Amino acid sequence: MHDQNDPTEYRSRETVAIRGVHLPDPFRALNPPLYQTSTFTFPDMESVDQVLGGQESGYVYSRSGNPTVSRFEGVISLLEGGESSRAFASGMGAISATLIHLARGGREICFPRYIYSGTRAFIHKFLKPWGVPVHWFDPRQPDWLDTLSSRMNRDTGCVFVESPSNPTMDILDLERLSQRCLQAGVPLVVDNTFASPALQNPLATGAELVVHSATKYLGGHGDLLGGVVTGKADWIKSLSMEEGSFLGATLSPFNAWLLLRGIKTLFLRMNAHSENAMALSSFLSEHPKVTAVHYPGLPDHPGHEIARRQMSRFGGMLSFEVDSASRARLVADRLKLVRIGVSLGDPESLIEHPASMSHRMLDPKERIAAGIAPGLLRMSVGLEGTEDLIRDLDQALSD
Ligand SMILES: Cc1ncc(COP(=O)(O)O)c(C=O)c1O
Repeated sequence: MHDQNDPTEYRSRETVAIRGVHLPDPFRALNPPLYQTSTFTFPDMESVDQVLGGQESGYVYSRSGNPTVSRFEGVISLLEGGESSRAFASGMGAISATLIHLARGGREICFPRYIYSGTRAFIHKFLKPWGVPVHWFDPRQPDWLDTLSSRMNRDTGCVFVESPSNPTMDILDLERLSQRCLQAGVPLVVDNTFASPALQNPLATGAELVVHSATKYLGGHGDLLGGVVTGKADWIKSLSMEEGSFLGATLSPFNAWLLLRGIKTLFLRMNAHSENAMALSSFLSEHPKVTAVHYPGLPDHPGHEIARRQMSRFGGMLSFEVDSASRARLVADRLKLVRIGVSLGDPESLIEHPASMSHRMLDPKERIAAGIAPGLLRMSVGLEGTEDLIRDLDQALSD
């Protein structure tokens, strides 16, 4: 039967991205229905008792669950290799709920220095004032894994990392880090936003949970906010019933529907983003005005060999440095095709100057400690023609 496919039988994840979790539909619609409803009704009180008593499954209220949102969660589980997933209203919704869950009881959370500015702000504005112990480690130190291992114990809530990191493009060896976390009995959480499940699956190398800003490559069109956490069913169940339901950062059914549409082209887009980013990085590396290029696809990137092992391609994000903040701002101003903006993962190329934008709230010393040089520019390389992008950067960099 055409409408009773079993996605677990597909050989490739490209097929899963397109066919998704299809449920039988009385109208045989090609696309999933959008259940744009806040609540669900019951035929009688007996059925209320069955559903709320847990004897029967059923949707009650869209803050706790919604069929369109469940489909999106199901696709993410299949693409990331998670047993189960929980969607959120944004990446920060997913990250804050996960960190609150894992920090319960005052457990210490370990973060690398190089991490998305919103996650950093959550740590400083919430975790620290709540008394959650926070340990920062520097993955650029040669002995960082040993230092981290000696720090971890049964009271560590989690290690939370990004690879590639935003915006410094640091690559962490996820397999070795997972092994150390497993030995210590500490969950490893990986923010996989930059790679997307098309290029990297941290659960396969031993991470416990993966989080995404679905706003970025999963949606892929810059028209929604969303987030998701995926991993073992018992973690996701408690996260869903607690922070997922009662912090209120629930993904809207319409955004879940847009995500299901965007994900169909995820693999195609990630290939094209990666090709464009590789070409731009090579161009930038040769440019006399550019003092450094951070792209894991370049053979001289310190994480190149690790990235080759753990990613199928190197992705669409890169950052590069010019000699000063004023030149970086001038380059951004001069660009005509590439637009200035803080998001990423869209068909349109975007550039941001972290010192003026995402990391503006940090003082200059803190910025340097977080790996943000004054002349650093971060670029989300879009899907435009490679030649047009190179020409635009070339004219913006010239005197
Ligand atoms: C790596 C990373 N994680 C999480 C987030 C937060 O996602 P959202 O903006 O959807 O809350 C972002 C946003 O830029 C990000 O780049």
